[in-house]
Amino acid sequence: MERKKKVILSGMRPTGKLHLGHLTGALESWVALQGEFQNYHLIADYHALTTNPDSSFLYQNSIDMLIDWLAAGIDPKISPMFRQSQIKEHSELHLIFSMLITTARLERNPTLKEQVRDLAMESLVYGHLGYPVLQAADILLYKGEVVPVGEDQLPHIEITREISRRFNAQYPVRVPIFPEPEGRITKFARLTGLDGKRMSKSIGNTILLSDAPDAIMKKMKTAVTDPQKIRKGDPGHPDICLVFSYHTKFNPAEVEAIRADCQAGKLGCVDCKTRCAQRIIEALEPHREKRAYFESHMDEVHSILDNGEQRAKQKAAETMNEVHAAMNMG
Ligand code: TRP
Repeated sequence: MERKKKVILSGMRPTGKLHLGHLTGALESWVALQGEFQNYHLIADYHALTTNPDSSFLYQNSIDMLIDWLAAGIDPKISPMFRQSQIKEHSELHLIFSMLITTARLERNPTLKEQVRDLAMESLVYGHLGYPVLQAADILLYKGEVVPVGEDQLPHIEITREISRRFNAQYPVRVPIFPEPEGRITKFARLTGLDGKRMSKSIGNTILLSDAPDAIMKKMKTAVTDPQKIRKGDPGHPDICLVFSYHTKFNPAEVEAIRADCQAGKLGCVDCKTRCAQRIIEALEPHREKRAYFESHMDEVHSILDNGEQRAKQKAAETMNEVHAAMNMG
């Protein structure tokens, strides 16, 4: 008998086309774990409304993101991909969970604290406070046991575990309904942006997975390097150089030679960047091709989403039946 696969639930807010940081921080691990686990992938469109209530681009952004997921190798036959907003059970479970966690606990959430700093207290909405509660519903609706995420999301996984324990204790049944999910961080979780700051689409310091080769070359030329290496002959410090960190990831075969030549003043930054850009262009070639395929087969993309949403709905309905029964509210 085949052992039942553990469930992975992971998701992203639909910000449109994805960048290299999404690939190394999340997508690669989703794809690597796809055979061993049962993956579910969520397009967190409701969560996106916390940063911007304007919903006019959400659908297009969701489709753009979905195409990048597919191009990166998420197989729609085995891993359902779906929009949070289309599965009404997310909202219902979020409401039930909101009774099981104190506001004091949510106020201590470090990501909320970051938002308070960035946004100013007056523009903080109720949805910000409840953000991790909705995320807990996302994960537990599918009984997610493993959640591959960036480090910044670990506090949300911790809140999810607390809510899961709280629900199971409050509404006991013979076999507890919810698992206690664990977060998994990938090795290259943090890829720094071309300007040395956190990689983020809104700052424009990214390489998009869909960028054409000449755009990648052009962007790489703007990357910051070791400030002490001004001329080619100056000895460089690879360990503090952003471009070197990209070589580590995208050019493992040459990385040690590059380190030595940079330190010896034999390799200039312009050449080093060109070589790095070439490797990234090569690495993204299959992605670009698959993307182009899906962009010219939009019917297929829509039916993939439709099918993912049907499968997610079925699983969500099953879990909610158990929830209603345990709560005696069936
Ligand atoms: N909060 C996550 C992010 O910003 C997105 C997200 C929403 C998510 N629901 C999720 C991630 C459930 C993992 C599991 O990246």
